[in-house]
Amino acid sequence: MKNILVMGAAGQIGSELVPAMRKIYGNSNVIASDIRTDVSEVLKEGPFEIVDCLDITKIKDVIAKYKIDTVYNLVALLSAVGEQNPQLSWKINIGGLMNLLELAHELKFALFTPSSIGAFGLSTPHDNTPQDTIQRPNSMYGVTKVSGELLCDYYHQKYGIDTRGVRYPGIISNVTPPGGGTTDYAVDIYYKAIQEKKFTCNLKPGTYLDMMYMPDCIRAGIEIMEADPSKLIHRNAFNVAAMSFEPEMIAAEIRKYIPEFVINYDIDEVRQAIAESWPNKMDDTCAHEEWGWKHEYDLPEMTEDMLNVLQEKLKI
Ligand code: SER
Repeated sequence: MKNILVMGAAGQIGSELVPAMRKIYGNSNVIASDIRTDVSEVLKEGPFEIVDCLDITKIKDVIAKYKIDTVYNLVALLSAVGEQNPQLSWKINIGGLMNLLELAHELKFALFTPSSIGAFGLSTPHDNTPQDTIQRPNSMYGVTKVSGELLCDYYHQKYGIDTRGVRYPGIISNVTPPGGGTTDYAVDIYYKAIQEKKFTCNLKPGTYLDMMYMPDCIRAGIEIMEADPSKLIHRNAFNVAAMSFEPEMIAAEIRKYIPEFVINYDIDEVRQAIAESWPNKMDDTCAHEEWGWKHEYDLPEMTEDMLNVLQEKLKI
């Protein structure tokens, strides 16, 4: 039986990954942790610990207390907020990861670290972005993601640590909003469509990006850690894709349910520059071949589900 620690559990992915894994592995076998204390009641339905990713002693104590064999490292400052404070972005994203890699070396646990479409840059081929290609990111977030991919590979090659990971697209969800990312518009648009029937988009029309619905995101994170390691050629940073769209396409899908919905544009230049440096659509053949990855949700199914769930949640 696995004993799993989730770091950064109160964030967009953690707040849904924790309950999903508790259903599979048992409530008391999945320990949620975050630096925040004001976390949702759902996270507290099982063990919860306050942990700062930069406090290696506290992490070590929690790992010993619960006999942890697998850690999900979901701590990160996202891309747009990282540009406001690049030094803090490096400190948190890489400082936290280095603590976990060192502890994984000492204590021998498996480590999941998500990378991102942010690990690519302007010189990367933007269409059908290959698994192995040019990675010269233009944001500090991207610099930390490429560095993280390399560090995870290094600790696996040098010390045999069971490091694994995927490159997530922008994640769309309806439980916890993302904070400070470039792809956040694709979450906000659904809330605003229901609340106001109009939305001001901070990216330009025609800006294609890879996106993924949360159920697929969670399944990817669980399946890569369950995969047969003998079949993995790439261990860390697998491209995982689901859908690719630009703002007008998501607006058109929403209009099928809310015909009067209007999209306007007020461009955030920082986010626009980041978005233009990221892939339009990644090629995830390696994830498919090495561990059977396949997405379930495309834009139409996701839109139907998002609007249903949010209509109930926002009680409109
Ligand atoms: N969603 C993230 C961001 O926009 C990318 O991984 O920063």
